Amino acid sequence: MKNKLPIEQLSLVELRKYRSKVFREGRGTRPEVVLITYGGKKAILKDYTQSDPWFRRLVGPLLAFREARALRLLKGLPGVPQLINTLGRQAVLMDYIEGPTTKELKNSGQVDPEVFNRIYKLVDEIHERGVAHCDLRSGGNTIITASGQPYFVDFVGYVARSNWNLPWRWVFNKFCIADEIAVARMKKRLLPDQLTDEEKKNLELDKNHPIGKFARFMGRSFTRLSRFLLTDTDKKP
Ligand SMILES: Nc1ncnc2c1ncn2[C@@H]1O[C@H](COP(=O)(O)OP(=O)(O)O)[C@@H](O)[C@H]1O
Ligand SMILES: [Mg+2]
Repeated sequence: MKNKLPIEQLSLVELRKYRSKVFREGRGTRPEVVLITYGGKKAILKDYTQSDPWFRRLVGPLLAFREARALRLLKGLPGVPQLINTLGRQAVLMDYIEGPTTKELKNSGQVDPEVFNRIYKLVDEIHERGVAHCDLRSGGNTIITASGQPYFVDFVGYVARSNWNLPWRWVFNKFCIADEIAVARMKKRLLPDQLTDEEKKNLELDKNHPIGKFARFMGRSFTRLSRFLLTDTDKKP
């Protein structure tokens, strides 16, 4: 058999030849997210070189850097894909996690209640490592494997804890609460009968939570502004 290079030694151009499934097409402010199947290994390539030219030049490197940094902070944690490599300044290669995202799961009956205990445990573990995910409201960012292990992906919007900056620590704690509320929302959709009183209280909080509202407003404004300024294709809000 031909001696192949290990996957981590392939260049971006070579890697892209082994795309076997597209999760997200790269355009506008979106990275290309594809499955790479190479030498018996499966990996996910998140690649901003396929976004619109200005966006990929100005914002792509920052987003790829953030994704890689979060994965490094969470290295070795079961429930987070391992970073394999970064490719240039605009692309990240990570382990492929097989399974449906919570968005793909039916509204109820498909998820074992134990899975939610594991999701909350994972939320605690990433917070202990100093990372708040901040985008768990999006059902595409939680994958449940066949054995019922949850995985979080898409760490680009994460917030890191600061040990010395007390006001920032306060903000970080609020984002941690927002992650927990996001899980309660997930559970409301997938296991509505099993919501605890605390989760119901969290969902009530969610309606008026100022930090959550502020974070969503900032996220939307940033996306709209960068689409308007840096892309040709995504002018629609
Ligand atoms: N490590 C991974 N393993 C398996 N699927 C993944 C992985 N990372 C991303 N995906 C899939 O690709 C989709 C888009 O990736 P994501 O990182 O969420 O990008 P976006 O910023 O476009 O939301 C996810 O919803 C998920 O279905
Ligand atoms: Mg996502």
